[in-house]
Amino acid sequence: MAEAQLIDGRAIAAALRRQVAAAVAELQARHGVVPGLAAVLVGDDPASAVYVRSKARACAAAGIASFEHRLAADTPPAALLDLIAGLNADDRVDGILVQLPLPPAIEARAVIAAIDPAKDVDGFHPVNVGRLWSGVPGLVPCTPRGVMLLLRSVRADLAGAAAVVLGRSQIVGRPVAALLLAADCTVTIAHSKTCDLAAVCRAADIVVAAVGRPAMVKAAWIKPGALVIDVGINRIAAEDGGTRLVGDVDFAAAREVAGAITPVPGGVGPMTIACLLANTVAAAARRRRLSDPLQPSD
Ligand code: GUN
Repeated sequence: MAEAQLIDGRAIAAALRRQVAAAVAELQARHGVVPGLAAVLVGDDPASAVYVRSKARACAAAGIASFEHRLAADTPPAALLDLIAGLNADDRVDGILVQLPLPPAIEARAVIAAIDPAKDVDGFHPVNVGRLWSGVPGLVPCTPRGVMLLLRSVRADLAGAAAVVLGRSQIVGRPVAALLLAADCTVTIAHSKTCDLAAVCRAADIVVAAVGRPAMVKAAWIKPGALVIDVGINRIAAEDGGTRLVGDVDFAAAREVAGAITPVPGGVGPMTIACLLANTVAAAARRRRLSDPLQPSD
């Protein structure tokens, strides 16, 4: 069988970022609106600091105003909640993102619940989770939104496909499953207690792997011609003594069986920030009762 089509997340994300920049320019020209995104970073986790910096750069490139708030790791929860209340009330701020993970002394659930659902560009607030599962338009988590765009880049109509989601996290697995269901797939959510995972995967036309285990999904688990989206980003030791990034799928072998597959890096990763920008545009428009220029039908 021919090698799988590679799904180029960098190119698809770059195209979305251009669409976002055009939508931002249109919002400003027609309505005088400059979308704004506030990112809150608590503590000094180096990976989180890198993400927050790249979000600020991506905002600048798209014409979105960005506001960065860095708090010490020992910030009392009440001070973080006060900051969020201020951002909820600030009309320049359309999107609020609190970078996870938070220090152990701060309960993420309470922080997320304090964000105005209309500004919850992560789509983690219970109101947005409820909307997603109810099929009501709302703000959708960024990585899952990116996964759907990647799938639709190779198959516009997903109706009737058997989809297996590996992983049941709040950030990826569950919301991806909700979006696949909304796209009329028949969805199975598999997890660490699933019996005969290989057989469950082999029945799938679509596999979305989001478990955080390097190369766990084997080629023999993939149905010939299936679409494979690899959300995993795992750093492992490389042959040369350094490290390298690999996904949750045994890429080289799976590529021989799948119909289309995302690489790691260069697949899902670049989509997350592009979708965050798209969500910020959506929030800016909907807060003013305007239609979202990127999804006019919602
Ligand atoms: N940490 C890892 N992924 C994410 C994400 O999508 N949003 C936030 N806020 N934190 C994260």
